[in-house]
Amino acid sequence: MLKNSSNALTPLQAKAKYDKLEVEIAKHDVLYHGQDAPIISDAEYDALRRRYVDLETQFPNLKSDKSQSQQVGAAPSAKFSKIRHSVPMLSLSNAFSDEDVEDFIGRIRRFLDMPSDAPIGMTAEPKIDGLSCSLRYENGVLVSAATRGDGSDGEDVTDNVRTMKDIPLTLSDSSHQLERAVALGKPPEIIEVRGEIYMRHADFAALNVKQLANGGKIFANPRNAAAGSLRQLDASITASRPLHFFAYAWGEIVWGEFDEMPAQTQMSMVQAFANFGFKTNPLMQLCNSAQELIAHYNGIEAQRATLGYDIDGVVYKVNDLALQQRLGFVARAPRWAIAHKFPAEQATTLVRGIDINVGRTGALTPVARLEPVTVGGVVVSNVTLHNEDYIKGIGNDGGILRGGLDIRIGDTVRIQRAGDVIPQIVDVIVEKRTCDAVPYAFPHICPCPLKTPALREAGLKGEEGSVRRCSGEFACPFQRIEHLKHFVSRRAFDIEGLGEKQIEFFYEKGLIQEPSDIFTLEARDEASELVKIRNFEGFGELSANNIFKAIELRREIGLERFIYALGVRHVGELTATTLARSYGDWGSFWAVVERLISADLLVQGEARADLDALDQIGDAVIDALVRFFNEAHNRAAVDRLVSCVTIIDAQKPKQDTLVAGKTIVFTGSLERMSRDEAKAQAERLGAKVSGSVSKKTDIVVAGPGAGSKLKQAATLGVRVMSEDEWLKMIE
Ligand code: IVH
Repeated sequence: MLKNSSNALTPLQAKAKYDKLEVEIAKHDVLYHGQDAPIISDAEYDALRRRYVDLETQFPNLKSDKSQSQQVGAAPSAKFSKIRHSVPMLSLSNAFSDEDVEDFIGRIRRFLDMPSDAPIGMTAEPKIDGLSCSLRYENGVLVSAATRGDGSDGEDVTDNVRTMKDIPLTLSDSSHQLERAVALGKPPEIIEVRGEIYMRHADFAALNVKQLANGGKIFANPRNAAAGSLRQLDASITASRPLHFFAYAWGEIVWGEFDEMPAQTQMSMVQAFANFGFKTNPLMQLCNSAQELIAHYNGIEAQRATLGYDIDGVVYKVNDLALQQRLGFVARAPRWAIAHKFPAEQATTLVRGIDINVGRTGALTPVARLEPVTVGGVVVSNVTLHNEDYIKGIGNDGGILRGGLDIRIGDTVRIQRAGDVIPQIVDVIVEKRTCDAVPYAFPHICPCPLKTPALREAGLKGEEGSVRRCSGEFACPFQRIEHLKHFVSRRAFDIEGLGEKQIEFFYEKGLIQEPSDIFTLEARDEASELVKIRNFEGFGELSANNIFKAIELRREIGLERFIYALGVRHVGELTATTLARSYGDWGSFWAVVERLISADLLVQGEARADLDALDQIGDAVIDALVRFFNEAHNRAAVDRLVSCVTIIDAQKPKQDTLVAGKTIVFTGSLERMSRDEAKAQAERLGAKVSGSVSKKTDIVVAGPGAGSKLKQAATLGVRVMSEDEWLKMIE
């Protein structure tokens, strides 16, 4: 606990302490503001400042106008404010082989119902290894710039970006398209230009030399240097760093009534950006087949070392924007684009030990502790070993891994890391195995104090699963902590200042045992005479108050995040969003949960069928929901939580279309598009697509060859229409 340190001090001692604190605070200011590399938490920093101000209050003579407390502009907790992206910034799925590229093209053709040899125009361009940024221009003037962040909210880096030569402050237009639009009296109101901020190799090397001379931070790679240089609270530092930008994508575009878009293809959009005054990548090229894409990929890879900047693959995009629109998105990535990655970098190192982590769902995950080694620009010191079988050399499908070699403590292994993919072990170098390296004995009990048995459970089809799971559930302290960590994580409740470390700390202190405890923390802190968070080591009044404030800010939460935060097995972000958007509000979701665990089997069955009709939701999710909510202690914990927070209704799928909320069944063969595309399109318009006809079906769209479903529709009196009628209706 912190002592109230200023009380018993002599003025001389106070002065010594004051001076020391001053130096300390100044050091952290430089680290935080100047180098984008703080070494203490905000809470610890606040505690330092608080002790400093306490001393001043106690010994007013100490204060001078040089005092830290008198400095303006060094606001310690100043952070970048957030900007919500009007159109989310998505990621790309990856291809690692020529075969993956062919599969990707095949998927596109199938989705668009094209013949298997139909050419599809695709662009291919380098994947720049920097950080992406979205630049918003209103009436041709740069008004804001944001980093990608989590894809939904980014950091406001407008002032920083304004210092970059590659980024125009106003859009010029050498093709006079803008001028034409303006002349028509309908200016392009909004254009968000997106692309990559990066640093060139030579500039990166020179920057590090300078940093070394000035005792500044040494950057590990050009990407970190670019990120560190952009994310400066003092934009004059950004201005002194040589940052570059390639434009390759866009977000919101409101082009007045002039035209919907400045162009109809990916290629001409990028050309339009070049006309507006942006740098675009000279290696971007149009290709017409997987073979052409792969040839261009090989060409770019051959030039990789001489480009002068880091790239980690080649991005392929469908050229025709109308086709992009039809293809749409799956989860966080477009169906119409993919990143073909360069092969992973490899390194060899030693396995020093194997630790067992217990996850939120009780899974025992082995992690190899490695002799630290640099691979692909980062230091790797541990790597997941997935499960018991993986260590033995057996794959998930029962096949052989690494030629059947097991992994032992003391082994030399080859590891690889490709771009943003987590590192993995590729090989065991068996020649280097010493005779004292023995096969690893996987524990059969949970490493938690309860020592609960950890069993291998059956998979969905009754086969033996490869995961050993602690059977302690919520009684297992490890699982409870992991649940709480998940609860406060970025995509769930996202409580600033209450991260994994703080959760562990409060859990051990007995202050937070379940999610609702977070929301009663302040009240309990106030009520208690004995336990005050501000008195804990490393806290202080300011940091305690900051945590309370951050918690208050999250007392209101969207239904999507709320369901995800509960941490039900198999209910990831996507599933949580589907559930939230389908049921709309907590009450309706709860109603289906209650039916799902009802004693009446008929009611149960109906609830299952309701859930089953939702896109991407099947038995695994439904069983997990049943298991979770069947536990009385889980229901009680959720009840307590619900009474502490306000859950904001989810955005229901589009309500303003003719088919919103309707259940549609497609049957027979469709002639104008593939089944997948028809389904995706109906869902975009707010309809539910089901595989079977029941009395809840609103419309059956029947093509040639329709059989039993069409009959069923006739029996139940469900409306039937042809594909053309359907298309006309949704036009
Ligand atoms: S297109 C909707 N093109 O890769 C697709 N991304 O893994 C938008 N990136 O966050 C991205 N070079 O930071 C695209 N030529 C390129 C790119 C590129 C680098 C990055 C970007 C994005 C990430 C996706």
